[in-house]
Amino acid sequence: MQQPVRISPSILSADFSKLGEEVRAIDAAGADWIHIDVMDGHFVPNLTIGPAVVKALRPHTTKPFDVHLMISPVDSFLEAFAEAGADIITVHPEAGPHLHRTIQAIKALGKKAGVSLNPATPAKMLDYVLEEVDLILVMSVNPGFGGQSFIESQLRKVEAIRKQIDKIGRPIDLEVDGGVDQGNCRRIVDAGADALVAGTATFKGGPDRYAENIRNLRG
Ligand code: DX5
Ligand code: ZN
Repeated sequence: MQQPVRISPSILSADFSKLGEEVRAIDAAGADWIHIDVMDGHFVPNLTIGPAVVKALRPHTTKPFDVHLMISPVDSFLEAFAEAGADIITVHPEAGPHLHRTIQAIKALGKKAGVSLNPATPAKMLDYVLEEVDLILVMSVNPGFGGQSFIESQLRKVEAIRKQIDKIGRPIDLEVDGGVDQGNCRRIVDAGADALVAGTATFKGGPDRYAENIRNLRG
């Protein structure tokens, strides 16, 4: 069943010289979750932040940390991100040889387990793990950078996964990440998403605009 839309601003678009302040600002502006993009310069062509930064940010908000791991191999880092304060830990199927085992490891750490699909990765990838996961993240750009354009073909994938989730009847979150803005958010939610990641569209215009930006992402 589709849940009320949660907005998860990606701090990749925040001012990195004052990340704590930025996290407090989006919390106050109405963010539901805080999306943290972790990149390793290997699985994706960019380097961002590690568990030490997640830990340093943890005291700045009580909102769930939605941690998107774009790193490979991923298994050896799960515990560090869990201890740093992640609430949702999302991995890509291509980031390790045993996705099912990785999902179990995240759950054993007491965290919500997410699986993220790249634009070219089919929904079929979920067939034998959907029962196990708490969140599906559909990438609507190729991961690595903020500020890219939304890839329209991913709406069909969202529709297909929505049907699969509804068949199971458990409230698995269906999140979309990449190029989400105030102009396309309605269509993405209509396709079946109930969580939206937004970097550029949250942080544009500076702190005075965050609340309005987030409100307008709710459609
Ligand atoms: C891309 C990241 C996204 C990114 C989204 O690899 O996973 O979370 O920050 O940025 P926007 O919303 O600007 O496309
Ligand atoms: Zn992300």
